[in-house]
Amino acid sequence: TGQVTYDPGFANTASLSSAITYIDGDEGILRYRGYDIADLTEKSTFVEVSYLLIYGELPTPEQLADFDGRLREHTLLHEDMRRFFQAFPYDAHPMPMVSSAIAAMSTFYQDSLSITDEAQIDISTARLLAKMPTIAAFAHRHAEGVPVVFPDNNLGLVENFLRVNFGFPSEDYEVDPLALKALDQLFILHADHEQNCSTSTVRLVGSSQANLYQSISAGIHALAGPLHGGANSAVLEMLEEIQASDDGPKKFMERVKNKEDGVRLMGFGHRVYKNYDPRATIIKKTADEVLEKLGGNDEMLQLAKDLEEIALADDYFVERKLYPNVDFYTGLIYKALGFPTNMFTVLFAVGRLPGWIAQWREAAKDSETKIGRPRQIYTGAPKRLYTPVDDR
Ligand code: CMC
Repeated sequence: TGQVTYDPGFANTASLSSAITYIDGDEGILRYRGYDIADLTEKSTFVEVSYLLIYGELPTPEQLADFDGRLREHTLLHEDMRRFFQAFPYDAHPMPMVSSAIAAMSTFYQDSLSITDEAQIDISTARLLAKMPTIAAFAHRHAEGVPVVFPDNNLGLVENFLRVNFGFPSEDYEVDPLALKALDQLFILHADHEQNCSTSTVRLVGSSQANLYQSISAGIHALAGPLHGGANSAVLEMLEEIQASDDGPKKFMERVKNKEDGVRLMGFGHRVYKNYDPRATIIKKTADEVLEKLGGNDEMLQLAKDLEEIALADDYFVERKLYPNVDFYTGLIYKALGFPTNMFTVLFAVGRLPGWIAQWREAAKDSETKIGRPRQIYTGAPKRLYTPVDDR
C-alpha cells in the first residue's frame, strides 16, 4: 500500500528507532548508551559493557557482582549438547558449528523460550552470554581434533574463554595478562554497531516473535559472510596471499583499483564510516603492543601498514572515502594470541553477542515493532497463460 521506495541494501531507510548505539560516520564517532568507545575500552570490561548495552545503564557494584555471578553459573553445556559437537565432520568450519549449537539451545533449554516473560528473557540472556564462549571453544577444539576443556567458574568470562580454548594439555595453563586485556578490549569494540547486517537479521527474525536463541543463531549466519564478520579472516588470507606472491603490495593495490576479478582490499571501507573507523584506531595500537610483547608476524603487520599507507594516499580510496575498518588489524592480534584463522569470525560473534541480545530485547519491548516485511519492485514476466508440459 502507498508508494514503495527503492533503496537497495536499506542504505537510507530507518525502519526502527533505537537507544543503544550512536554512530556518526562522518566524524568517526561510536558510543554505546552515550559512552564513547575509547573511554569504555580503556576503563571498562566486556562483562560490564554487556550489562550496559543490555540494561541501559552502567551497573552498580551489586548489580555487576550479581550479573557476573549469573554468567559464571551458566558456563557449562548440557552433556548431550557437548556430544552434539562430535557429530560434525572434524574439518568443519567452526562458524556453522557455533550457529547450529546456538539454534540447538532452543531444544536444550526449553524453560527459557518466552519472548515476553522478563525473568525468562534474563535467563536466556545469561545462558547465551555464558555458554557462547564455551560453545566457541568446543567448536575450536573439535576442529583441532583435541579434547575439550571445561570452564572454570572461578574465572571471569574472558579469562575463562582463553582457558577453554588453550588450557589443555597444560594443567597449569596461565592466562597472559596482556592477552586477556587485548581480548577483553576487542570484545568491547565488537559489542554493538547498531543496524548492521547481522543485527538487522536478529531483529528481523525476532520480529516474527521467534525466540532469542533462534534469532541470534540467524544473526551468526549473517555475520559469517566475507563482506561482514568474515572480513577479519579474509584480511589475513589476503595478507598471506600477497606475501606468498612476488607481486608486493603496490601490484596488489593496482589489481584492487582495476577491480580485477572483483578483488577488494579486505578490511577497508564501510557503509556508515566515511572516515577512519574509531575502532580501527584503537585496534591498530593494540596490534602494535600485542605483536611486540607476545610475538607475532611482524612482517605481516608491516605489510598491513604499507597497504594502509598506500590506500590513504591514493585517489581511488580517497574519493570513495575508504578507510581501515574494525577488521583490518584484528586478525593479526587473534593470530598472535594463538587462534587459527577460521576462528576469527567466531571471535567477532562472541564479542557482538551482547549487542544482538540488547537489540532483540529492545525490539521485543517496543510497541512500534512490526513484523519485518520489506517491499519490492517487481521486474518479472507480465501475466501469461500456463502451457501443459507436452505442448512446450
Ligand atoms: N576495496 C576496494 N574497493 C572498495 C572497497 C574495498 N574494500 N570497499 C568499497 N569499494 C568501492 C566499491 O567498489 C565502490 O566503487 P565504485 O563506486 O567504483 O563502484 C565504492 O567503493 C562503494 O562501495 P560499495 O560496495 O557500494 O559500498 P557499501 O557501503 O555497499 O559496502 C562494504 C561496504 C564494507 C561491504 C565494502 O566497503 C567492502 O566490501 N569492504 C571490504 C569487506 C570488509 O572489510 N568488510 C567489513 C566491514 S566492517 C565490519 C563488519 O561489518 O564486519
